[in-house]
Amino acid sequence: MMEKKGRTGGRLAGRVAVVTGASRGIGKAAAKKLAAQGAIVVINYCGSAECAEKARAEIEGDGGKAVCMACDVSDYETCGAFIKEVLRQYGRIDILVNNAGITKDDLLMKMTEEEFDRVIAVNLKGTFNMIHFTSRQMLKQRSGRIVNLSSVVGMTGNAGQVNYAASKAGVIGITRSAARELASRGITVNAVAPGFIETDMTAVLSEKVREASRAQIPLGTFGTADDVANAVVFLASDEAGYITGQVLQVDGGMVM
Ligand SMILES: NC(=O)c1ccc[n+]([C@@H]2O[C@H](COP(=O)([O-])OP(=O)(O)OC[C@H]3O[C@@H](n4cnc5c(N)ncnc54)[C@H](OP(=O)(O)O)[C@@H]3O)[C@@H](O)[C@H]2O)c1
Repeated sequence: MMEKKGRTGGRLAGRVAVVTGASRGIGKAAAKKLAAQGAIVVINYCGSAECAEKARAEIEGDGGKAVCMACDVSDYETCGAFIKEVLRQYGRIDILVNNAGITKDDLLMKMTEEEFDRVIAVNLKGTFNMIHFTSRQMLKQRSGRIVNLSSVVGMTGNAGQVNYAASKAGVIGITRSAARELASRGITVNAVAPGFIETDMTAVLSEKVREASRAQIPLGTFGTADDVANAVVFLASDEAGYITGQVLQVDGGMVM
């Protein structure tokens, strides 16, 4: 694949951004907004090749630059090969957004080992895998922005989501530890914790659950993928250079 150059204008002009799980939802919205600011975006996905390709086409249609690359973030070796390929093509990584995530909800007593392990593997270990392989390059560059997707559920807990809540609490632990380790080399690591956002992930929830959630949101509406993407782009920008180890909630006031 030929190397692509991003938009010349924009506050992220020429930066190389990797967004995991960017074929749909929040990841796709973040990829589009990063590209609109001039970043060259690597759209990572796992199974949805068609959706990823559509995201790429939308970015390029808007004058941005993007490429699709499949990788299951839960697989350590595959992540290593994925980052190696990004570096072979672009030579650097300026922004890493660890967004790929799944749910496998069930009550604690009924949750299977597989349901627990898979959610931890994708959401938590996937975040570790990507930071592990990307940070070496960012350390060499002496710069970088890492943004991890947590959730307000990682702070409050949620019935039926012990696996998901544990993974998202773990993401906050990774964020703060990595922020401390990498700060001296100009790399910031922050998390965004969305509340209830309208995506495929929440579309499967019953009307009863949706209404109960909406009742807990002071701003009175669910968030959009763009609401979260705006926070991601801010934390990835130069303007956020003095912010590290923080968790920015995008939740309409749901948790405070
Ligand atoms: N929606 C919410 O209300 C909400 C709230 C709090 C936090 N979050 C977090 O925000 C992030 C994005 O959520 P979303 O609502 O946008 O989810 P979504 O619409 O379900 O999209 C999930 C994305 O993750 C990718 N993905 C799943 N497993 C993967 C794997 N093993 N390796 C690589 N990519 C994988 C999917 O790609 P494929 O389709 O190719 O598998 C897809 O692009 C997640 O971390 C989620 O936990 C969401």
